[in-house]
Amino acid sequence: MINETRFVSEELRVRVLEAMEALNYQPSAVARSLRRKETQTIGMMVPDSSNPFFAEVARGIEDTSFGQGYSVILCNSDGDLEKEQFYINVLVEKRVDGMIFVAAGGSAQHIRTLLERDMPLVVVDREVAGVEVDSVLTDNLQGGYLATKHLIELGHRRIGCIAGPSDLTPSAERVIGYKRALTEHNLVVNENLIRKGDFQYEGGYKAVCEFLTMNEPPTAVFACNDLMAVGAISGVRKRGWRVPEDLALIGFDDIALASFTNPPLTTVAQPKYEMGILAAQMLMERIKDKTMPPRRHLLETTLVVRESCHAQ
Ligand code: RIB
Repeated sequence: MINETRFVSEELRVRVLEAMEALNYQPSAVARSLRRKETQTIGMMVPDSSNPFFAEVARGIEDTSFGQGYSVILCNSDGDLEKEQFYINVLVEKRVDGMIFVAAGGSAQHIRTLLERDMPLVVVDREVAGVEVDSVLTDNLQGGYLATKHLIELGHRRIGCIAGPSDLTPSAERVIGYKRALTEHNLVVNENLIRKGDFQYEGGYKAVCEFLTMNEPPTAVFACNDLMAVGAISGVRKRGWRVPEDLALIGFDDIALASFTNPPLTTVAQPKYEMGILAAQMLMERIKDKTMPPRRHLLETTLVVRESCHAQ
């Protein structure tokens, strides 16, 4: 009667509901899931829950999953493989019906083990080399190219790049796009103008301060994500310079904050919410049919011009 799986008389229904209320009875999700062999729950792994990029992807996942009767357990690996493994164990013990995974970096063995255990899985944003698995990715190479081409078309010739962690495919691909745009416009790739960042505010701040102490600083900088671009704005200001008058700056992700920085940030947009929707839909399909061949979706990135770049 509680699950409304069979007809009972109205009188009996009322009597049972009154008894449940009197006993403060709560249906047991554990008992239900043991009976059904499913929990209607999925796990989502992210490498940095403080980064708005992952929050916006998670929103698409949660809205879609909730709409199909699934709860979402969000786990933060902090980009650490041991912590990632800890949370994988937690999700497996909780018998989640599937997982959506943004890898910490170096996660191939974790993904392989989950696939061998027949866990429905969708990888988002960070492709895992050597593993055939459902994936929702964006065209990072195209995005890095668009960002750099935009700066070149504004007349900049000394263009710096603040990369993310080099072991992460999105960052590596953006840097390839940056280099391809320079080469295609007959500009030399100067490794001194490429600084390694960390996808965090601090990494952008530190890298731009290094650029500004050079004898010949760049006139423009491509930061491989928006958090580093925001940190870079702060670093430019710290030295009494201005964005964009003294240094043009472009980011990557188009997190909501990018519209409200001072100046508003020109950036490369990733379709974050749509990535989440697509990943959740693919996971629901995979849960229903584990035999399908792996599917790979590569979504477009787009240039969003605001006020942090100007003509040289
Ligand atoms: O800002 C976090 C970065 O890590 C994003 O660019 C996203 O692509 C992820 O890889």
